[in-house]
Amino acid sequence: MTTEPAIGWEALREAARDAMSRAYAPYSGFPVGVAAVVDDGRLVTGCNVENASYGLGLCAECGLVSQLQNTGGGRLTHFTCVDGKGALLVPCGRCRQLLYEFGGPDLQVDTPEGVLPLAAMLPQAFGPDHLG
Ligand code: THU
Repeated sequence: MTTEPAIGWEALREAARDAMSRAYAPYSGFPVGVAAVVDDGRLVTGCNVENASYGLGLCAECGLVSQLQNTGGGRLTHFTCVDGKGALLVPCGRCRQLLYEFGGPDLQVDTPEGVLPLAAMLPQAFGPDHLG
């Protein structure tokens, strides 16, 4: 695992900004875009999709893991998340758990405080291994 994705962090951020431009966030007014590299070199992206029934809103990461699975699965290696201004954003707690399922503790996360392994952002994570 390298901290720098083959396509470079800036290209990954651009893919997240592109996804963010397609967010559906009329209720929060807070569009989010995410992008990740898969261990076979694929790129997957997502944007948040809100709902009139507020609690049903989907975070951008939900779209990303759905695309991951629906385009062949695999493991996430590098992940980035941006807000409506295109600035780096930390993934919410629930989405850290989503990312853990498909990237594990070594997933490299591009945060406002630098690139960190997911293990540093979700310590003592509950995960598939606990289920035996
Ligand atoms: N949001 C995401 O899409 N991902 C995150 O990791 C943080 C929050 C969305 C959910 C909601 O549509 C909006 O940002 C405001 O919370």
